[in-house]
Amino acid sequence: WSPLDLVPAAREAWAVLGDHTLYDELRQTATATYYEDLTALTDAISAAEPVPDVVALPIHGHLHDTPDHDATDGPESDSETTGHGSPVDAAHAVLEHTLVTLQTFLADDRLAGTRLLVLTHHAVAVTGNDPIDLATAPVWGLVRSAQTEHPGRIHLIDHDHHPDSVTALASAAATAHHHDEPHTALRSGTPHTPRLTPQTHQQNQPRAWNPDGTVLITGGLSGIGALLAHHLATTHHIRHLHLVGRRGHHTPGADTLIHDLTTAGAHVTITATDITDPNAVHQLITSIPHDHPLTAVIHAAATTHDTPLQTLTPDHLHPVLAPKIDGAHHLHHHTTHHNLAAFILFSSISGLLGGAAQANYAAANTFHDALAHHRHTTGLPATSLAWGLWAHTSTLTTNLSQIDRKRLARLGLHPLATAHALALFDAVVFGPAGGPPVLVPARLNTATETPPPLLRRLISPRRPAVRATRGAQAAGQDTSLAARLAGLAPDQRNHALLDLVRTEVATVLTHPNPTAIPTDRPLIELGLDSL
Ligand SMILES: NC(=O)c1ccc[n+]([C@@H]2O[C@H](COP(=O)([O-])OP(=O)(O)OC[C@H]3O[C@@H](n4cnc5c(N)ncnc54)[C@H](OP(=O)(O)O)[C@@H]3O)[C@@H](O)[C@H]2O)c1
Repeated sequence: WSPLDLVPAAREAWAVLGDHTLYDELRQTATATYYEDLTALTDAISAAEPVPDVVALPIHGHLHDTPDHDATDGPESDSETTGHGSPVDAAHAVLEHTLVTLQTFLADDRLAGTRLLVLTHHAVAVTGNDPIDLATAPVWGLVRSAQTEHPGRIHLIDHDHHPDSVTALASAAATAHHHDEPHTALRSGTPHTPRLTPQTHQQNQPRAWNPDGTVLITGGLSGIGALLAHHLATTHHIRHLHLVGRRGHHTPGADTLIHDLTTAGAHVTITATDITDPNAVHQLITSIPHDHPLTAVIHAAATTHDTPLQTLTPDHLHPVLAPKIDGAHHLHHHTTHHNLAAFILFSSISGLLGGAAQANYAAANTFHDALAHHRHTTGLPATSLAWGLWAHTSTLTTNLSQIDRKRLARLGLHPLATAHALALFDAVVFGPAGGPPVLVPARLNTATETPPPLLRRLISPRRPAVRATRGAQAAGQDTSLAARLAGLAPDQRNHALLDLVRTEVATVLTHPNPTAIPTDRPLIELGLDSL
């Protein structure tokens, strides 16, 4: 996270939703009106009240300071993992509320010129010791996906309740807008923006796991979980593997996997367990024999249901959240007293970049990243690996179309070959201790034209046209499309507009020749989906 210089607040009209304290504070520095919620605002607009420039949507969670050391291993302590006051239930509720509000905001054409400012409190950690609110952390994944699908409409600002941060909020919003920074964290009045930085590989003494210990892999019966089980048995001579999935032995390919692992010398236990069920997770953990104690947890269980934000329903939100939010938290809770060498969460870079049509999955992965940070702050081992796309096709990735893959390449991501991915896993997990809780093993396409802000320290944008435009903007020239069209003769305007649309369409479809884009066919037939 790097500090950013504040630019002065713009003269803008704000609407503050549902937070009287924020409204009272913001009124000191901006023109603000209070509304109970977005419906109250849209009703007011229908009654001829003015449309605001900015809508501030404060997200309330609770900084969850669950005393993990008080947790017992018994199912009676499950009140901490589910039920009232649990970060799991709170995360589901906060995400559904945020989703519905985003959908309402984006669907209302009267708000097309309004920016939505989603305001969280300690949903991200700027330093290693920052507390993190597990209930609101996944909102960042959800909102980042909304930003990917609706660029320029939504800003995310996290704040620390410091008096200077409250005073700086209007300027911070203007700063984020001015610099085209979709995510900002305000700490003591200073905005910070996130950038991924390279992690250098150190040649210290490698770590090893207890050869007599049990390694538990959820989602270990298929996809990259199974590849990893094989790698651990063959390369690292792990002798006790416990593989979990809901289908257990009935998972296609399970027999071959067991045969291969057994041939490599591993003793394999397979259980059909739904990791979202706290009692089942408790039973799973207590079933691990004392003479082969649990030494490492690798949580790779996941499901997806990809759909654009506007069509995402609660029925497709919660089941995708559950394996990663509920499952990860149950595993965290029930293994607190185990002397683990590693607790590894398989996450995805889509949580950090905001996956198009993956708001549910991105939110779920952001929970993994936050949980790893939370465990670090309490002295527990944890690594969240926010993988880029693997080249190996799994159930999760089998439905990715060529256009989806090209979209990822444009963002700066190439698929990771299995051997490369496993080498990265080894470098992190068996390399020197003391690394950060969240790492992003991914293969970057450094030739990309439009890297997302998070990757800009690793990939320099190559878009001269955009740079030229920004330069002209800095020089005070009006570079808007309207200004350019106004400078043309009427008969040239259609051509200029057509050129622009064709160029954008060709970029999205990675078509080499914009002038070959037909003008008489619907875009959807040319391969442009709703994203
Ligand atoms: N593949 C990639 O390119 C990629 C990229 C980034 C991150 N990742 C992450 O890597 C992990 C593995 O992904 P994958 O591509 O290998 O997916 P996959 O082949 O679909 O495997 C997911 C596994 O999770 C299990 N599972 C799902 N829900 C479960 C539940 N409630 N309880 C227990 N097990 C459950 C599934 O088995 P059942 O259906 O039998 O339960 C399945 O074996 C995921 O966490 C994913 O987010 C993958």
